[in-house]
This record gives sequence, structure tokens and C-alpha cells, in this order.
Amino acid sequence: MPAREPGASGNRPSRARPRVAGRVAGLGAAPYVGRMSLRPIILHPDPRLKTVCRPADGIDDRLRRLADDMLETMYDAPGIGLAAPQVGQMVRLLVMDCVKGEDAAPEPMVLVNPEITWTSEEPNVYEEGCLSIPDHYAEVTRPAGVRVRWTGLDGRAREEQFDGLWATCVQHEIDHLNGRLFLDHISPVRRGMITRKMEKLKRDRARSTSPAL
Ligand code: NI
Repeated sequence: MPAREPGASGNRPSRARPRVAGRVAGLGAAPYVGRMSLRPIILHPDPRLKTVCRPADGIDDRLRRLADDMLETMYDAPGIGLAAPQVGQMVRLLVMDCVKGEDAAPEPMVLVNPEITWTSEEPNVYEEGCLSIPDHYAEVTRPAGVRVRWTGLDGRAREEQFDGLWATCVQHEIDHLNGRLFLDHISPVRRGMITRKMEKLKRDRARSTSPAL
């Protein structure tokens, strides 16, 4: 999900979060020292964004590297959540950081094989966007609170309750792992409209990057 204050008028992007310098405490210390790099974000429509991802079958350097790159890519966007299929990796991994305020310390989270174990009956409506669908937003209704179980990068199982923006974001990102976009929660008419605009954007971008003949 893109970084954006709820209820703000227009598509005002928040200022980019500080970069995550090296490995962050709480992510699980890893023996490797890697340099993070930005990965291109896949844009809707794309079959990879409609695919159910496979579970990660263990934590290795490749997965840690992917998580680091995804955090870097997310902060750079700027975004508050990013799922592996958005960078073309069809594995059940997501990253997020929904800390608000420019002075607040970043709280990067990496969730491997996340599973929702409980949802509140109380709904919440939030105007969602997606880094794979830039500049389009729509109100989506989801449970206001969820409990999620996942594996951390240290290999340990965790379970936590999420509320507010964190709850919205984690559900949005888990949807990605199941081949679902926020567009799947809105009316088919609106979905079609946004998809056609995205097709045009992708055509225009492809044209502008193809070599002149
Ligand atoms: Ni998204």
C-alpha cells in the first residue's frame, strides 16, 4: 500500500520514510551482510498479481535478501506495505511499516507465511491504494482488527493482533499473496474503469521506453 494519510483530500503522498540502514533490530539478526537494492514494482494488470503464492519452505539468505530489498523498495516508493508478488517473487512474504509521523522511528516488519487466525466483527472503511495501481484509490471495507500468525526472519513463529491502519495494511498485503487486489473488493464497474486506465498507463510507458525506429 502507498503511504498516505487517511481522509486527506486528493492524492497527497507522505514524505518518504527514512531509509532502513542495514539490518534493523527486531527483524532477527542474520549472519550475512548484504546491500539492499530496489526492485521494480509490477503494475496491474499482470497475471503474477492474480496468482496464489507458494509458502516459503524455510528462511535462507535468498529470502532475507528479498525481504531487505522489499523494505528498501517500499520505503523508497514511499509505501507502508509491499508483498513479494509485487516484485515478481511468488512466495508468501510481505513487509510493512505503518508508523505515522515523520519523526517516528521506523518499525519495519517482515511476515513469512502469514495467516489470519481471527477477524473482528466490527468493520472499518479505509480509502486504499496500491503500489501496483499508482494514483488510484477506493474505499474498502474490511474487519477493523485481525490476529495474524506468521514466521519471522529468525525462523520463530509469532502471533499478534493488528488494529487501525496496521490491520488494513496486513489484510491488503495478505490479499496479494492470494492473488487478490483491493480492486476485487470494489464494484466491477469501478474496477473496470481503473483497470482500463492502468492498461493505458502501461501502454504509454512501454511506448516511451521502446527504442525509436
Ligand atoms: Ni497493494
